[in-house]
Amino acid sequence: MTAPIPNWDNLGFGHHATDAYYLAEGDANLAQGDACLAQGNGAVAGATWGPGEAVAGDRPLSLAPAAAVLSYACGIFEGLKAERTSDGRLLLFRPHDHAERFRRSAERLQLLPFPHERFLDAVRTVVRANERFVPPAGRGTFYLRPLEHGIAPMLGLGTGSRYRVVVYGSPVGDYHAPQALEHGLRLKVLPFSRVAPGGTGAAKAMGNYPGGLVHKQQAQQQGCADVLYTLVPSGGGPPLLQETSGSNVFCWLRSGALVTPATDDTVLAGITRASVLTLAAEWGIPVAEQALTLDEVITEGAECFCTGTAWTVRSVAELALADGRVHRCGPPTLAPKLRAALRAIQSGAEADRWGWTLSV
Ligand code: COI
Repeated sequence: MTAPIPNWDNLGFGHHATDAYYLAEGDANLAQGDACLAQGNGAVAGATWGPGEAVAGDRPLSLAPAAAVLSYACGIFEGLKAERTSDGRLLLFRPHDHAERFRRSAERLQLLPFPHERFLDAVRTVVRANERFVPPAGRGTFYLRPLEHGIAPMLGLGTGSRYRVVVYGSPVGDYHAPQALEHGLRLKVLPFSRVAPGGTGAAKAMGNYPGGLVHKQQAQQQGCADVLYTLVPSGGGPPLLQETSGSNVFCWLRSGALVTPATDDTVLAGITRASVLTLAAEWGIPVAEQALTLDEVITEGAECFCTGTAWTVRSVAELALADGRVHRCGPPTLAPKLRAALRAIQSGAEADRWGWTLSV
């Protein structure tokens, strides 16, 4: 069946069927075989991961009911974008960094790491096979969703030895509804973190996301676009900013410093976050990755914004505080400039001096 081309003017951040996705399977026991080969005992080299291929977009995945991912959420994912330039090239944004984070996430979740070059090959394969779904220049982007999960039947807790990598994609527009963006985002501040300290917050683990859905829904019912998690340190002290349900957060302080919470086991090392830090530093803005208290944001903040692959760079207009007060953030000045600079690089409109883009 041929998937229809969506209406480019009405994309939003929804899933659209495409022509093909990528599929590869791996077996950690064969990884041990590779190690044996190194010792000369005749195991098959390179058999850890099967060859991988593009398969029809409507082909369902099969999974054993006992697959580790279904009980124990032994799975990770990534999100990266490809974009069509005005002169017709297709550019991936920072795929090397996404490949690297995919590897780090796999290690954190005890999954078999997918080799860097294989990751690049898989995302390129998916973009090429679905070229007609990459929106025309300036009308949207093609979002790629690499997944890896444990597929071995496991009744006892564990990831098992067999793994699957899937990469699919979809054309996307803005993550947020136009109403939420019109006056900047309103975030509901929550007095707890998204992921427990010591947990998997540094990885893009499947299990980091569903627990927050109820928080996001409640926030939306109260007129907020999303939530802003804070961490109250175990030894006491003021709440520290963390992240939203799907983005990092920044505050531009009146002192001139641009601050974002340091990444650790509760804050994801966002790739848009890293790009914004690089651009701002290049513009002479002092940047800092450090603890940021809610009090500092309220008393010393000039501007707040969020960053993420799906979110891009989005200004925060208001923080709905736990005690019912609403803090109005300063007007967006830096965020729109950062967004424009980043979007210009991603779309090929400006020269990429950082080597962030890769032509498909
Ligand atoms: C992304 O920004 O790509 C993510 O994976 C976050 C998700 C909530 C859409």
